[in-house]
Amino acid sequence: MFGIVRDMRILAIETSCDETGICILEGNPETLTLIGNTLASQIELHAKFGGVFPTMAKRAHAEKLVPLLIETLEQARLLRDAETSISAESHTFIEPLREKDPDLIESLLQFFKTTGKPDIDYIAVTSGPGLEPALWVGVNAARILSHVWEIPLLAINHMEGHVVTAFFERHEQDGKQVFTRRAFEFPVLALLVSGGHTELVGSVAPGVYKKIGQTRDDAVGEAFDKVARVLGLPYPGGPKISALAKEFRTKQAAEGTVQPFVFPRPMQHSGDFDFSYSGLKTAVLYTVQKLAALTDEHKLALAAAFEDAAIEVLVHKVMKAIDTFKPKTFLIGGGVAGNDHLQSELTKKLAAAHKDLADVAEVQFLIPERQFTTDNAVMIGLAAYLQLQHNPKPFSVSDLDVKADGNLSIQGK
Ligand code: KG4
Ligand code: ZN
Repeated sequence: MFGIVRDMRILAIETSCDETGICILEGNPETLTLIGNTLASQIELHAKFGGVFPTMAKRAHAEKLVPLLIETLEQARLLRDAETSISAESHTFIEPLREKDPDLIESLLQFFKTTGKPDIDYIAVTSGPGLEPALWVGVNAARILSHVWEIPLLAINHMEGHVVTAFFERHEQDGKQVFTRRAFEFPVLALLVSGGHTELVGSVAPGVYKKIGQTRDDAVGEAFDKVARVLGLPYPGGPKISALAKEFRTKQAAEGTVQPFVFPRPMQHSGDFDFSYSGLKTAVLYTVQKLAALTDEHKLALAAAFEDAAIEVLVHKVMKAIDTFKPKTFLIGGGVAGNDHLQSELTKKLAAAHKDLADVAEVQFLIPERQFTTDNAVMIGLAAYLQLQHNPKPFSVSDLDVKADGNLSIQGK
């Protein structure tokens, strides 16, 4: 189905939210080897506020970017001990950017003094959606590297990165991580669930997307994070809520523990494919406020009741979308895609639907590698390979007009 582009190397940069990620992938769109990969999380920085602060995120990205770049090049054995000479034209390009981010520019100029141009064919960077000040750090760094080293630049949509992660399977080979393309067919339906997004997206062909539904207020990951805060759990709340919910369900199965709480399933029967998570979060808050004391038992039960409600709506809308649009492949992506309860409920419902409708072709369910469900640069590199395959770009062209766009949509690109 897909032609093979010649082997090449892509350097990918991700700074859309609270993870600074840089990686180098080598290969073709069917088999890719991760030859360098770094990720710096700002979780500790944001934990005390219970969420991500854009200006703090920007500063942390700017501090981490060059050290991570050096480490990634070193891992890939592409760090060249030489000076990069910067042309007058590049200086003219860089200088106006200094005003916006002096620390980043200074660290890049220092970096060029001791590092020569690496053997890399493309640079890929997340241009949106996300927190705009954070996105600009990656975008400006990528534009400067592209200009100075004369390496073509590709702008990648973060949500497309979450989609294509599920297209690949990961293996270990000679101590390296290798990604190979899974066999699947279009049309594809994708449920994208993260701290910033809750979207159902249809794709009839590679790179072509249509949004079928989305949240009208909070994202589902945001609801996990806010409920965690109400329960006194640190950011990010998703994995912690999920662990407590699992503990509750285990106790319920073993000891018959009664669930005292039940929360609404917002918009479950709205007749469309949209979502709403702000009311659910408020329902948990009001319930907690009415308790005389918030005990550990309460926390377990509340986490399970919240997760049941949040996930049930997602699963319900997915099954409705499958019934309506009849995709051949269904996949999940984004931080919440790593949620065990979501994965097992979807697996169960898909199996049951297939049994009930024996004449309906089985929908293939692609689950991404858990390690790559939350933000990272690998997903951006994978999306870049696929973009080049379907929309080839000459090696000599550099798109320096790339801009960060916090509201970039996956549709209509
Ligand atoms: O994709 P991601 O890393 O960042 C965005 O693009 O937003 O997603 C982060 C979100 C956070 O809200 C986090 O709480 C949530 O994903 N998350 C989870 C789980 N792991 C991460 N939510 C539920 N269950 C999980 N296991
Ligand atoms: Zn994300």
